[in-house]
Amino acid sequence: MAIRRRFDPTRALQWGFVVLLSIAAAQVVWWILDEVRHTQKLHDALIAEYEVEVQAARAMLDRGTPATEVSDLFPQVVFSSGPERVAVNPRALAELDDDRIRRLRRIGWEGAFFLLVLVAAMAVLAQALHQDAQLRRRQQNFLAAVTHEFKSPLASIKLSAETIALRDPPPDKRRALVERLLADIDRLDAMIGNILDTARLEEGRVQLQPERVSLAAAVRALAEEVGPRAAAAGVAFTAEAAPELEVQADPIALRTVLRNLVDNAIKATVANGGGSVRLEAGKSGAFVRIAVRDTGVGFAAPESHRLFEKFYRPGDELRRKTRGSGLGLYIVRRFVELEHGRVSAHSDGPGQGAVFTVLWPAPRGERA
Ligand SMILES: Nc1ncnc2c1ncn2[C@@H]1O[C@H](COP(=O)(O)OP(=O)(O)OP(=O)(O)O)[C@@H](O)[C@H]1O
Ligand SMILES: [Mg+2]
Repeated sequence: MAIRRRFDPTRALQWGFVVLLSIAAAQVVWWILDEVRHTQKLHDALIAEYEVEVQAARAMLDRGTPATEVSDLFPQVVFSSGPERVAVNPRALAELDDDRIRRLRRIGWEGAFFLLVLVAAMAVLAQALHQDAQLRRRQQNFLAAVTHEFKSPLASIKLSAETIALRDPPPDKRRALVERLLADIDRLDAMIGNILDTARLEEGRVQLQPERVSLAAAVRALAEEVGPRAAAAGVAFTAEAAPELEVQADPIALRTVLRNLVDNAIKATVANGGGSVRLEAGKSGAFVRIAVRDTGVGFAAPESHRLFEKFYRPGDELRRKTRGSGLGLYIVRRFVELEHGRVSAHSDGPGQGAVFTVLWPAPRGERA
């Protein structure tokens, strides 16, 4: 199916402005060149005029007109004792030169200023258009991913529910079906949670309430939640955090960050045919360093910053091995930043695993 691009008046207006600004910039360049040429022409014409005056003065002197009369008639002419007898007043020539330089300087400054303003406006507009195009592409990718993410668990829920309703399976089969139902519902729930979190972050509606939180307890709760799922998918999940380790965090933000990082690590490891995911935590100055290391598909080094952008998922939607919408790491970054922490990603390359490191502020009073 061919997709026709809808006419977007704002975009058309922005492009219209880019065209107008380009024309205006070209006009300014033309104006500068024209003014420079005009100034030079004016200067040459005055010099020629002075020369004519000198010739006329000389002719009048030849005819015996008194020097005072000649001098009154041609104020720009001076008398000299040499064979020429008259010449253009050097002061008049210097004034002419000064005037020319002043004019050229003014044209230079004014022209450069207008050009700078126009070029800056074009750059800002072009940058906005470029970012807009990128965001559109990512949103289209996001829409494709989200549609798939919603459709597949819904289809699976429908199948499980129909099987239970129509076939009345034996208890063990029924239990397996119910577990699958719950897993699918969890998947939908996580997805909707991500979309809602993103919307709240975008609108600045997120009010975090940082408090002293036991990292060990948060990690234990996470291990209980994802451990069985990881094991079922052939991934060994281990988590290590000293019992006394605490962070200054909003508990929900902390849980969301840890869950997203571990979830990603498990997905990447499953896509690499299984392996291990390890969460480690330890004090690091005023922070607690939390590292989630996996033996998954990894990524190319230049991707490490882009992964945290909204909707960004490397590759294209049809060929990607893992499911997702590209919101998880964006939410992670925003939450960590709101908590005054830092997050970074590292991989030695595709197929080499990855490590995501969060520096989370330690509780106040414990910041060595
Ligand atoms: N541990 C990892 N190893 C390799 N690639 C990763 C890892 N974590 C994230 N990525 C890459 O970064 C991309 C963005 O991750 P993010 O969590 O933002 O989105 P997602 O997992 O695709 O979807 P969502 O989290 O919204 O369900 C992923 O699609 C994946 O390609
Ligand atoms: Mg994710």
